[in-house]
Amino acid sequence: METESVMGKSERMAVIILAAGKGTRMRSQKAKVLHEVAGEPMISYPVRLAREIGAEKVVVVVGHQAEEVKAALQGESVEIAVQDVQLGTAHAVLSAKDNLSSFDGDVLILPGDVPLIRKETIMELVGTHKLRNSEITLLVSESSSPTGYGRLVKDEMGFPHKIVEELDATDEEKKIAVINTGIYLAKNSCLLDVVARTGNKNVKGEFYLTDLVEIATNEGRRLSAHLSPDIKSLQGINDQADLAQAEQAMRARILEALMESGVRIIDPGCTYIGRMVKAAQDTIIHPLACIQGCTEIGANCVIEQGVAIKDSILGEGVRIKAFSVIEGARIESGVTVGPMARLRPGTVLQKGARIGNFVEVKNSDIGEDTKANHLTYIGDATIGRNVNVGCGTITCNYDGEKKYRSIVGDGAFIGSDTQLVAPVTVGAGAYIGSGSTITKDVPAEALAVARSRQVNIEGWARSKLNGGKGERKGKGEGKGKREERVKIREKKFRGKKKKR
Ligand code: UD1
Ligand code: CA
Repeated sequence: METESVMGKSERMAVIILAAGKGTRMRSQKAKVLHEVAGEPMISYPVRLAREIGAEKVVVVVGHQAEEVKAALQGESVEIAVQDVQLGTAHAVLSAKDNLSSFDGDVLILPGDVPLIRKETIMELVGTHKLRNSEITLLVSESSSPTGYGRLVKDEMGFPHKIVEELDATDEEKKIAVINTGIYLAKNSCLLDVVARTGNKNVKGEFYLTDLVEIATNEGRRLSAHLSPDIKSLQGINDQADLAQAEQAMRARILEALMESGVRIIDPGCTYIGRMVKAAQDTIIHPLACIQGCTEIGANCVIEQGVAIKDSILGEGVRIKAFSVIEGARIESGVTVGPMARLRPGTVLQKGARIGNFVEVKNSDIGEDTKANHLTYIGDATIGRNVNVGCGTITCNYDGEKKYRSIVGDGAFIGSDTQLVAPVTVGAGAYIGSGSTITKDVPAEALAVARSRQVNIEGWARSKLNGGKGERKGKGEGKGKREERVKIREKKFRGKKKKR
């Protein structure tokens, strides 16, 4: 079946993504394509691009840390080709030979380490390819600092002649500003045939894909080069400095798109937002916010400084105060969270709820207008609407083996420093006296007090001072001596403190 790709309805396109290399220059234990850019592994960018341009077949060539790279591609409809030993980019393309043996169409080659490339650039490449009726079209660009890239050497007529790699280039060739982006579009019938004839007579002793230019031109194949002006998005990532630059560029792109849709980013220089994050108009995001994953933020929200949010949904007019950490939560409109609150996966905060400082919520449903303002842990609980959860409340949800739920009905009042030992149910409108350890269900509208009764022992402190002998009235020791003893003790105590 033919799919509609950027090639047009009747033409077919396959993509080969080269991702087998180690990335030696990264000086990392992790394969280069697994390093993240804006929160996503580098390899996911060319895969997404392939999908966006409607490729009917996507082959990823893996090799170094193949299992980890495959794991990063889980859920993607891609074919995997394995390049057991990394003998160079031409060898990598040949590793995908079997996947393409019966494919009749054009093949786009994408390096796994050029994550910033845009769909528009590929469409322009396709345009040139079609216009010139080429068999092979190179994507090249011009760079003021071309060091490290392959350079495009032209013949006397100005046509592409060959690509020379940095290590193999003469001083004269090194001055060439037109660089090879490592992206090529070629007819499948021609590509594999030409690539199969590349050699490895170069400084690195690798089979260079770039050699296809010289081979093809010598054979009189129709080869052309498309010059893209967008060098910034065509930069390859080879070391940590390149990665940091790409990270910055990708983040700037994400923030620009958000600002375009009416989101206020106070300081784009220090705001970190992932590509999948959506935010609506008039939401304000303060510096050092870090928002990642599939997060959606409604209109008119305020995300204060240092807030971290991941995979969460926020309604409208939500305020997340400074330094709160939120993951896997659904927060309805008008809710206030923080400062310094922590919402863990499975948290649902219904409209108007308030979660205050040093409150942790996990796998719990908090009803409308319910408040838990200070120093509280709510885990595996269902709390009704309009409940007051006092300061220091703890749901004791874990007995060392299993987790249990706590249920609190609408309008209940949980006094400060209460422990709800789950499984337990507090009925609607019930009250719990402060400092209670609730182990049994509390009926609706009842008052539960579960703490020992207070006992006051009159004069106890004074008697302790006298060695528990009570006041020695008229037995030799007057008030003066007693005070003296207190002074001596205080002196000793202060002495100890100083030593510490
Ligand atoms: C390559 C080009 C260079 C170009 C630059 C653009 C060659 C010989 N050189 O150089 O002309 O200017 O890209 O960024 O092609 N890979 C494999 N198997 C291998 C070797 C590499 O899959 O055996 C993969 C890597 O994982 C990487 C991509 O191919 O994703 C490019 O390899 P890399 O080593 O980064 O090539 P460059 O030296 O950057
Ligand atoms: Ca590279």
